[in-house]
Amino acid sequence: MIDDLDRIMAVMQDAFDPHWGEAWNRRQVESSLVTPTTHYRLLDATGETPAEGVDAAAFAMVRAAPGEEELLLIAVHPDLRGRGLAGRLIERLSEDARARGAERLFLEMRENNPAETVYRRYGFEPIGRRPKYYTDGNGDKIDAITFAKSL
Ligand SMILES: CC(C)(COP(=O)(O)OP(=O)(O)OC[C@H]1O[C@@H](n2cnc3c(N)ncnc32)[C@H](O)[C@@H]1OP(=O)(O)O)[C@@H](O)C(=O)NCCC(=O)NCCS
Repeated sequence: MIDDLDRIMAVMQDAFDPHWGEAWNRRQVESSLVTPTTHYRLLDATGETPAEGVDAAAFAMVRAAPGEEELLLIAVHPDLRGRGLAGRLIERLSEDARARGAERLFLEMRENNPAETVYRRYGFEPIGRRPKYYTDGNGDKIDAITFAKSL
């Protein structure tokens, strides 16, 4: 698991724009990974689960609850975007969640996050809004949009 923690953190450090404060630190990821309801997937640059010793190009994490799961984070290394890796992660996590008995997958996104295109393409639809849920690097408040996907 330590290996995977390193691989997740390597993608995390390069993938997120610090302005939005969305990246998790190592301690947050570590404590999440030891929680039995957290599950994750890694992909290498070819879209497969990385072999031992191979860096991850992308990762995603979910939290499982009875009958539903929540996508906590998804990230692809900036040099490897636009090749379908995020889509592949969503498909894999959807299959995993279905196998665990989930019927719906949720996520929360800051309004106008470009990732919305990916989410909609892979079956998520907006179902709600939480006003002023996030604060950006300038102290401005941003709404969160909740999306759901039927599994
Ligand atoms: C969002 C993110 C995960 C997308 O990864 P990706 O591997 O490039 O996405 P995919 O290649 O699977 O794209 C799927 C579709 O969404 C579109 N898309 C992906 N990123 C996009 C963006 N930034 N703006 C507009 N469209 C985008 C792709 O063009 C593709 O559509 P197409 O099939 O019609 O070409 C990646 O940009 C990322 O890591 N961003 C930073 C972290 C982040 O914001 N994560 C989300 C919040 S946790």
